[in-house]
Amino acid sequence: MKKSIEKPFFTPHPVLIIGTYDANGVPNAMNAAWGGQIGGSQISISLGASHLTTANIKLNKEFTVAYATADQIAACDYVGVASGNNVPDKLEKCGFTVTKSDKVNAPVIDQLPVTIECRVLKITEEFNECIVTGEIVGIKVDEDVITEDGKVDVSKAGFVVYDTVSKCYRAVGDSVGAARSIGRKFE
Ligand SMILES: Cc1cc2nc3c(=O)[nH]c(=O)nc-3n(C[C@H](O)[C@H](O)[C@H](O)COP(=O)(O)O)c2cc1C
Repeated sequence: MKKSIEKPFFTPHPVLIIGTYDANGVPNAMNAAWGGQIGGSQISISLGASHLTTANIKLNKEFTVAYATADQIAACDYVGVASGNNVPDKLEKCGFTVTKSDKVNAPVIDQLPVTIECRVLKITEEFNECIVTGEIVGIKVDEDVITEDGKVDVSKAGFVVYDTVSKCYRAVGDSVGAARSIGRKFE
């Protein structure tokens, strides 16, 4: 028998680390779990207006989105609790180093294996949040998580999801079936 739960929730979420530069070229990163893909090659993220990241994106109109990983989970969490507005050496403090993207004016975090490079298409202010929509213009992937046919090997990347109910990070696990394939046994 199913029970009704009154408090709304949606889970799990991806754990996205948003990389930006400020006006002086200082790199920053923040953790954003309220985001995802829309359409074929666009990303939409809901950002609080007071974050340094939000100001940096409005300034540069470009940013990166790296997937958080289990082996870097403490650093990924730290960039979600400290703000670059108050902690200018936020990245050094958690051991993140960066390399400037060759596609956008935004940093690629060296310690995270998969990073999407984005150019802003639209910023709208809704529900006291800035909804940033970006076009994917490039993707950087560590060689050791690329398959022989040139794709990201998700089984090796160590991605995590955010469990908004228990408020913890959970590892992405094994494949349980090929999409648009395993269900065909009912055809
Ligand atoms: C798991 C997690 C998920 C988060 N998701 C978001 C989000 O989607 N949008 C948002 O505005 N803030 C989110 N935050 C909060 C920001 O990461 C946090 O306020 C950060 O300090 C902002 O950094 P900045 O001011 O240096 O940009 C999240 C924090 C955590 C720990």
